[in-house]
Amino acid sequence: MTTPPPARTALVTGASSGIGRELALGLGRAGLAVGLLGRDAARLAEVAGELDGPSAVATADVTDLDDVRRAVAQVTAGIGEVELLVSSAGVIEAEEVPVWEADPAAWRHVLEVDLLGAFHVVRAVVPGMVARGGGRVVDLNSGAGVRDAVHYSAYGAAKTGMFRIGGALHAAGHERGLRAFELAPGVVDTPMTRAMPVHAGRTGWTAPAEVVELVVAMARGELDAWSGRMVRAGTDTPAGLRARAEAGLPARARTLGLLPWGPDDPLAP
Ligand SMILES: NC(=O)c1ccc[n+]([C@@H]2O[C@H](COP(=O)([O-])OP(=O)(O)OC[C@H]3O[C@@H](n4cnc5c(N)ncnc54)[C@H](OP(=O)(O)O)[C@@H]3O)[C@@H](O)[C@H]2O)c1
Repeated sequence: MTTPPPARTALVTGASSGIGRELALGLGRAGLAVGLLGRDAARLAEVAGELDGPSAVATADVTDLDDVRRAVAQVTAGIGEVELLVSSAGVIEAEEVPVWEADPAAWRHVLEVDLLGAFHVVRAVVPGMVARGGGRVVDLNSGAGVRDAVHYSAYGAAKTGMFRIGGALHAAGHERGLRAFELAPGVVDTPMTRAMPVHAGRTGWTAPAEVVELVVAMARGELDAWSGRMVRAGTDTPAGLRARAEAGLPARARTLGLLPWGPDDPLAP
């Protein structure tokens, strides 16, 4: 089994706004060369302009695999092979309605960006990682991916599916040096959350620095024991996660699965 060295390069999707922007800047401060991907070239260039170290900007719509492949090649030409992939590009439906009232076009769009988009980026980046002996992938997931909710059914379905992609990367790739993390960022003040009625009037937010410190620790390989599992900013810290892993992690802890009624449940793993 191989363990990838600390990442020297990162590709951040959704780097033009919110959490992706903070992560691009934080990884840059941590000394990584950063590739920034999104659709808005001007906003990406602004973020790149705030970075002191090497960076590369590439526009792509993550729903288009050819576009993503072209952008990944552009980033690779600029900063070298991608050793850390951070999937932060995402959208959420505008309406808070139960699943049976959800707008089908909006539902499809959320799935296309959040789930298919995450797959496209994996498909464009991970074969190179595997060929080079490994790498790390961080998915911006959500509590919505692991519990049922009254609203935002497309978002929940997409984030659950994203966890399955990360789990599949871990299951098929761990022996080949891949590490994949599902990161719930808490509730960060961004254009996405500002537009959500459920967060209207909220005053308590997760600090972006708490998300950044987890991803920097992941980039350095300090949290590899958490591959295939979910961690949450604002609740988990790198030190706390390291201590918990050293104390021993139950096999299915923080993974996504069916909760059996007990050991005699025939569906128990
Ligand atoms: N904020 C939170 O509290 C929170 C909580 C849980 C999970 N998350 C997750 O964290 C991630 C970032 O969220 P955020 O709050 O930072 O949202 P945000 O500020 O709205 O940023 C979303 C980013 O996604 C990009 N994007 C959207 N559609 C795209 C497409 N088709 N192709 C490429 N890029 C696209 C946007 O860039 P362009 O417009 O330039 O394309 C933007 O950079 C999302 O995956 C979200 O689900 C956030």
